[in-house]
Order: sequence, then structure tokens, then C-alpha cells
Amino acid sequence: MRPYSRIVGTGGYLPPRRVTNDELAADLAKRGVETSDEWIVERTGIHARHFAAPDVTSSDLAEQASRRALEAADVAPGEIDLIIVATSTPDMVFPSTACILQHKLGIAGCPAFDVQAVCSGFVYALAVADAMVQAGTARCALVVGAEVFSRILDFSDRTTCVLFGDGAGAVVLKASDTPGILASDLHADGQHVGLLCVPGHVSGGAVLGSPLLTMDGQAVFKLAVSVLEKTAHATLQKAGVTESAVDWLVPHQANIRIMQSTARRLHLPMDKVVVTVGEHGNTSAASIPLALDHAVRDGSIRPGQNVLIEGVGGGFTWGSMLVKM
Ligand code: UT7
Repeated sequence: MRPYSRIVGTGGYLPPRRVTNDELAADLAKRGVETSDEWIVERTGIHARHFAAPDVTSSDLAEQASRRALEAADVAPGEIDLIIVATSTPDMVFPSTACILQHKLGIAGCPAFDVQAVCSGFVYALAVADAMVQAGTARCALVVGAEVFSRILDFSDRTTCVLFGDGAGAVVLKASDTPGILASDLHADGQHVGLLCVPGHVSGGAVLGSPLLTMDGQAVFKLAVSVLEKTAHATLQKAGVTESAVDWLVPHQANIRIMQSTARRLHLPMDKVVVTVGEHGNTSAASIPLALDHAVRDGSIRPGQNVLIEGVGGGFTWGSMLVKM
């Protein structure tokens, strides 16, 4: 019989520097960019975000989150036989951040690779790890979302630079006789590449095109609300359950208004929605595992409960997963 896969530990890490909206607004004012705590809170729900120090990379954040997840799972690094890192801000063009993380954890030999699906990256990575566990090619996987988005922000563009932050979240996924991951649903539509992208690329020893994030916020907002509802229903249908089976929704943390709208469409009260955007900002691929870890550690999410996670982001990519904890 094919094994199931189950999350047996979670971990999260935020770099120590917390930047409030007021602090960011004061910094931006020096550059002639006008924004305010009031605007940011009202339109996004964000109060603060964390920024990594200049010499700190995604793999550094990933290592901290991974060590916490391994400790929670009571798993030694040497037991890990698969590492997948979701990131859009890798340490290097190559090799993968997963290989760098593997070395930092002091292990060698198991497969390690990155997944690039921007803010949906963690859902993609967890779905791949689940498939590999079910196929019998891994028994104890480390799945991580890690980002240093502060590196790719255009601090002259107030429509994007106030939204994002840095951080990492991780889970340990083990083969199990009882179901953990119940169903998943992944999608992409490349016609929307230009809506949210970092268009630059390396060529002939230089970066051609902008290396900074650009986004059509309103278009992304509308698309996000529509696809998140569809993918949630698809996952619930695959799992053979209805919305009433969901104990917690852990959505990608981009904007409180997107989360409220999704919850409304899924007939879930906001007290079943894990919200960390206020303190984390949008940490892209790290946002879901960070939020999951937060709610596990504060005792909100308990063993046996059904958690619906869902992500949406550049690509356009989107997806969801129903997980029994
Ligand atoms: O993680 C990937 C997924 N990403 C997302 O889900 C992001 C989705 N989009 C959003 O969250 C929202 O569209 C934003 C937060 C980006 C923008 O919120 P909005 O309510 O759609 O604002 P808007 O773009 O309609 O802008 C309204 C006004 C504009 O001024 P005018 O033209 O009405 O005079 C903007 O110039 O707000 C202005 N504005 C700002 N004002 C102060 C835009 N950014 C700022 C700012 N501070 N930071």
C-alpha cells in the first residue's frame, strides 16, 4: 500500500530587525516617496515586517527555520532524505538554495532542489514532497519556504515596497500509515507573467532589465480572489469533504482584504483564518509555513485538525492543499 505523508514538525524564523510602517515611511520620505502607517494598515493590514541584515541570505533564514522544525519533529538532520526549498530570492543563480541549506545542516547525499513558484512556492514544494513520499522515493522530507524579498524591492515604488518582508518557514514531512496530506490542487497560467515579476536576467556578466519587483497590484488582487476560491473548492472536492470540515484556513499572507474575501466566499468566519500579515508583511514562499508554525506554536492548530493552505503569486501560479495535522 502507498504510504501517506504527514507533517510532524513546523518551524519559523524572522530576522531580528522589525521595521514598523512609521519607520519605513520616515525612510521613504527621505527619498521623496510619500506613504503612511494609516494607508498601509487600511489597504493591506500590515503593521510591520522584518528585514534581514545585508549579509544574511535565504539559506541562513532557511537553516534557522529548519532547525526549529527538526527539533519540533524530534528528527535529526541525518534522518532527512529529501530537501525542497521554495524561494524566488535564492542565494545564487546556481547551485540551489536547497543544496546550500543541506550543507549548512551538515548532511549530504539526499536529493535537494529548489522550487520556483513565487508566493505559491511552498504549496508547490509540499505537493512535490507529498508525491515523492507517496511514491516511496522519500520517507522524511524537509520542505522550506525562505525569502529575502527586501533585496528585490524598489524603494522608489510605494505601491510595492511597503508590502513585503523577509523570513523562512519549514515543515518536516514523514511517511505515515495514517493520512496527513488529504488532497492538493496546483495551477499556473503563464499569460500573466508581466503582472508580477522581476524582469531582469544575467547576461554577459551584467544584469539586463530591472532586478527589482514590479506588480500591477489591482490586477493581481482581482485574479487572486477568484483563483483562491476555485482552488479551495477543488481541493475540498478531491478530499471528499465540504467547507464545514475545515478547522483552519492558512492562506498566503499578502493582504488582509484578500484573506477576508476568500474566507467570505468559503463561508469561513475570520476566527478560523490564521492571520500573520500584520507582523510579517508578505514573505512570499515563506508566508504560509511561517503562519502555520505561528498557529501551531500558539496552540491554535491542534493535532487531528484539518488545515486548508492556499497560495497565489507570480507566474501566475496558485494552489491549495488540505492537511490533517
Ligand atoms: O504575493 C503575491 C500576491 N500579491 C498580492 O496579492 C497583492 C495584491 N494587491 C494588493 O494587495 C493591493 O492592490 C495593493 C495593496 C497593492 C494596493 O491597494 P489598492 O487598494 O488596490 O490601491 P490602489 O492601487 O488602487 O491605489 C489607491 C491609491 C492610489 O492613489 P490615487 O491614484 O487614488 O491618487 C495610489 O497611488 O493609493 C495610492 N497608493 C499609496 N498611497 C500611500 C499606492 N500605494 C501607496 C502607499 N502609500 N504605499
